[in-house]
Amino acid sequence: MNSKQVVFITGSSTGFGRLFAETLARKGHTVFATMRDPGGRNAKNASEIRTLAEKDSLPIYVLELDVTNDASVERAVDAAIAKAGRVDVAINNAGYYVSGLAEAVTTEQGRRLMDTNFFGAVRINRAVLPHMRRQRSGVLMHISSGAGRIVVPSGGLYCASKFALEALAESYSYELASQGIESVIVQPGAYETPVIGNMVIAADEARTNTYGAVKQIPAKIKEAFSSMAGNAQDVADAVLKIIETPAGEKQLRYLVSPETFGVDQINALSKQVQANLLEGLGLAADIKFLKGKAVGSV
Ligand SMILES: NC(=O)c1ccc[n+]([C@@H]2O[C@H](COP(=O)([O-])OP(=O)(O)OC[C@H]3O[C@@H](n4cnc5c(N)ncnc54)[C@H](OP(=O)(O)O)[C@@H]3O)[C@@H](O)[C@H]2O)c1
Repeated sequence: MNSKQVVFITGSSTGFGRLFAETLARKGHTVFATMRDPGGRNAKNASEIRTLAEKDSLPIYVLELDVTNDASVERAVDAAIAKAGRVDVAINNAGYYVSGLAEAVTTEQGRRLMDTNFFGAVRINRAVLPHMRRQRSGVLMHISSGAGRIVVPSGGLYCASKFALEALAESYSYELASQGIESVIVQPGAYETPVIGNMVIAADEARTNTYGAVKQIPAKIKEAFSSMAGNAQDVADAVLKIIETPAGEKQLRYLVSPETFGVDQINALSKQVQANLLEGLGLAADIKFLKGKAVGSV
């Protein structure tokens, strides 16, 4: 594979996605920075990215994409293929946080969250995989969270969406390895991005109001996350490093976090348990990557 890759990113208007786009393009990778409504509510963000690309001669192309809409996903992937001929890396980054006691999150709020944080990746992966299969190479990257492994009170629905994303990504890693396609998971801890300002608050106040002092938990969590948040560029630098790691040498999971809380230990134990499972199911020999260098990784 050419060392300069074609990278397709969801949720590039702000935060990590935007930093990934700029960081990767500065290293010569071609970036499709996708976002919702670049001609409307994200017009300023889209124009800033285009201006930067022009000023610094960076290979960044803005495309419209809403991860909750099948047709929008297909259109953006088709446009990237028409322009670059291939997609080497798809970064499933679009996502948001729902804050509130689990009972106070309405069914509709939970459904919308899963439609973005989980089904968004299902849609993107299904759209890019036929192209990666044709190339016999590619990387599906999933921006999960430390909260894809541990449970934050008042973040239950968000954690559920990231746990679901982790399961999807890991399943893909087993199923696609023999086709030369890798699936990796990035687990950021708390980082300074607009994520807190963009979070959705659980709507059912009447339910919240039955919880007494427990009602204070969302505010405490928000304060704790804000006080421990690291520099988001660290995550972009980690993503660059992962993308530039040769095929077959990537780990399944990368924890990138100012505070680990032992999530790395869960990853290590889970890797061992999964290996036991695959061995027990008689599948270890079928899953090519288990025989390769990835064996030693977490
Ligand atoms: N910051 C952290 O501490 C942290 C920690 C762990 C994991 N994460 C994860 O990192 C990812 C990026 O978040 P961030 O921290 O960079 O926050 P952010 O600045 O709020 O970025 C979220 C991005 O997702 C986009 N998005 C939301 N719904 C979308 C949809 N339906 N279709 C397409 N794009 C959509 C937003 O676009 P709009 O501008 O259109 O709303 C925005 O570009 C998320 O998956 C988040 O869960 C963040």
